[in-house]
Amino acid sequence: MKRQAQTAISHEEAARQNEIILRLKDRLKDESLTYFITTFGCQMNAHDSEKLKGILEQIGYVEAENELVADFVIYNTCAVRENAEQRVYGRIGHLKSAKRKNPNMIIALCGCMMQQATVITELKKKHKHIDIVFGTHNLYKMAELLETRLETNHPVYDIWEAHKEIVEDLPSIRKHPYKASVNIMYGCNNFCTYCIVPYVRGRERSRLPVDIVNEIAGLVNDGVKEIMLLGQNVNSYGKNLEESTSFAKLLSMIEKIDGLERIRFMTPHPKDLSDELIDVMALSSKICHHIHLPVQSGSSKLLKAMNRHYTKESYMALVDKIRDKISDVTITTDIIVGFPGEDDRDIEDTLEVIRYAEFASAFTFIYSKRTGTPAANMDNQIPEALTKERFNKILDLVNEMSLKKYHKSCWQDLYSIG
Ligand code: 5AD
Ligand code: SF4
Repeated sequence: MKRQAQTAISHEEAARQNEIILRLKDRLKDESLTYFITTFGCQMNAHDSEKLKGILEQIGYVEAENELVADFVIYNTCAVRENAEQRVYGRIGHLKSAKRKNPNMIIALCGCMMQQATVITELKKKHKHIDIVFGTHNLYKMAELLETRLETNHPVYDIWEAHKEIVEDLPSIRKHPYKASVNIMYGCNNFCTYCIVPYVRGRERSRLPVDIVNEIAGLVNDGVKEIMLLGQNVNSYGKNLEESTSFAKLLSMIEKIDGLERIRFMTPHPKDLSDELIDVMALSSKICHHIHLPVQSGSSKLLKAMNRHYTKESYMALVDKIRDKISDVTITTDIIVGFPGEDDRDIEDTLEVIRYAEFASAFTFIYSKRTGTPAANMDNQIPEALTKERFNKILDLVNEMSLKKYHKSCWQDLYSIG
């Protein structure tokens, strides 16, 4: 059955941006300019920063040793938890004196934090030394915004509420020669009640399989052996594409690429991890036997309040099914402590699931109240001291379990995105 295409794919827009890059390259060729990018948050952001680097280095910018001596400073921000936002505000304040010493310094802010109206209001009011602000939907336009800034000498704010187009063929500078990240989709439709991501990254949009496969084949041609496929919920891959497909089918296509040795992915949502995906993983010699499967909580009561669409029992059954078919699988997870309404029994449930699932590692987060999310308005917000106590209890068990499971493996340098 054919489905309605909802995502427009544009190869032309990158060509337009490329013309701007060439114009800037010519304009700035005698200036030996430098840049410095600081990335907050997840692997999705880290990958976005690789694209920003790609654009800047094509213009002719060279990476500076640190931000204080750079001509172009970029903060690629995160909005998932409040402490990351506070760090950005602190750093912006410090840049004021650096800019006084080097008045030609251009400061750009981008990423998830910039998609929040309250942040934009605060920046315009209190941080007039910021030059360029853009969000998650128009990252590909960075060269154009820089050109506007240079021409007008005024701050440039360009925030889009949503965008259905995916821009292909952007340049990118990778951190490692042998491994690379590849977006397979953008955005999230799940609306977990604590999470800001659907509001700042928009609805799910999948890239076409052919574009993904071509990008990976190109990377392999450049010497890449290992790829990490990125999506907020990879299990939803393909849902908005005209030709019906699935994440498992995409993996099967990618696996056929000659010269590619290792495939990883993140993040699959436990509510819709398919048998087809488990089977493809079990049979594959290239797909890493690691699943990052964020549980968030072991309490069915809290999972319901979080809008996660699974229970303690169904999560444990899923773990059984995965271990049944992939005996050497490594399972890792995310856990949130301090969600509204949490009590000691809920913590006991989470401890039980940690023991049962034998997570090799877990990112354990203290719940952070995000304005605009349903959980921010829930009764029974948990006092900080109690959350810390519970957090330490969870962390102790997580550490004990990972020590047991400890072996050098592919999951150790991950940072969760889902
Ligand atoms: N507070 C704490 N942790 C959060 N996460 C997402 N939103 C919040 C929040 N408001 C965590 C989840 C998710 C990971 C990427 O970040 O555990 O899986
Ligand atoms: Fe989407 Fe993950 Fe956030 Fe849930 S936690 S809304 S699945 S990004």
